[in-house]
Amino acid sequence: MTSNDMDYLTIALPKGKLFDLSASRLAKIGYTAEGLSENSRKLVIANETEKIRFIITKTADLPTYVEYGAADVGIIGKDVLLEENKDVYELLDLKFGFCRMMVAVPQALKQEKLTDYAHMRVATKYPRVAESFFHGIGIQMEIIKLNGSIELAPMVGLAEIIVDLVETGRTLKENNLVEVAQIHPATARFIANRVSFKMKFDRINKMVEGLKALVESEGKA
Ligand code: PRP
Repeated sequence: MTSNDMDYLTIALPKGKLFDLSASRLAKIGYTAEGLSENSRKLVIANETEKIRFIITKTADLPTYVEYGAADVGIIGKDVLLEENKDVYELLDLKFGFCRMMVAVPQALKQEKLTDYAHMRVATKYPRVAESFFHGIGIQMEIIKLNGSIELAPMVGLAEIIVDLVETGRTLKENNLVEVAQIHPATARFIANRVSFKMKFDRINKMVEGLKALVESEGKA
């Protein structure tokens, strides 16, 4: 960590669904920077007055930036934290971005029991989570890692079933898929690098307190 890094608090935000939800909440508690937008071609956006730096990362990479201290703190879904399994502090459940990790199948392939799906092919962006879920119920599956549009896989015969995030359920419905099991619910989490948490404790703690108060006020609204 350089002395320059010590002056700044670097906040990682993920591209995608959580970006706007995260940036707007941080702005409410005074953490923002001019030009901060998901569509910005600039990936590091600084607020020199407040000595804050935002970095915008690919969702799955965010915990890696925080683990290595390239970002001091970040906001990311619990689903990604479970899949990436990085060594970071999870400081707060921000209680937005509600969704659930599900096993889903085409209506026509629906079986009576989960174990009836043994040895089928599972398409997912979350191979570790999927593997551990099926291992936990004692069945072996062939996991096929994809990077998106998971619902396409069963439609074209790449896999029989999928493990994916469901928010409104619209994507499943539009592709004739039905949920057959919930693996875990997920919300956005505030995470911190372990060293930064010690070295920049006051700044990070102030941020946690601000976010905590916001979560509480949103809960009451
Ligand atoms: C996520 C997820 C589902 C969809 C669920 O995909 O993987 O496809 O959202 O949302 P819904 O239940 O509200 O329909 P995302 O849009 O992040 O893109 P991806 O398919 O490329 O991963």
